[in-house]
Amino acid sequence: MELHSSEDIVLVRQAVRKKAVGLGFGLVDQTKVVTAASELARNTMIHGGGGEMRLQALNDGPRRGVKVMFVDKGPGIPDIALAMKDGYTTRGGLGLGLSGSKRLVNEFDIESQPGKGTTVTIVRWK
Ligand SMILES: Nc1ncnc2c1ncn2[C@@H]1O[C@H](COP(=O)(O)OP(=O)(O)O)[C@@H](O)[C@H]1O
Ligand SMILES: [Mg+2]
Repeated sequence: MELHSSEDIVLVRQAVRKKAVGLGFGLVDQTKVVTAASELARNTMIHGGGGEMRLQALNDGPRRGVKVMFVDKGPGIPDIALAMKDGYTTRGGLGLGLSGSKRLVNEFDIESQPGKGTTVTIVRWK
């Protein structure tokens, strides 16, 4: 799914919610993964200049999960550890998007190369 306007964030929320519901996630787990995805989608738009979201259902034996990937070809993040800190922002945001998302999911991976772009991948297990 392409992410280029603020309406796309609504579509991300709907798509992630639908996938989680389909896998039998309860309301609390749905809301956690939807909230994390929403923050990352916003980052892709605001900081990454747009990009794309990839959504996948995971089956690991009896475990069910949702994997969401955000990919942009924006400016990248020069210091990931710094960007992950609560309250760190370069654009007058709250600086809680990355750190907050990480706390809402089970797996969180961020890869970024200055000048090339950023990929953030999250997994929430049921
Ligand atoms: N996709 C991205 N591309 C480039 N920089 C990013 C991206 N996502 C996050 N960042 C950087 O990390 C900082 C922290 O992100 P976040 O915790 O979401 O806070 P906020 O969005 O409120 O600034 C951002 O201010 C920005 O500098
Ligand atoms: Mg943010």
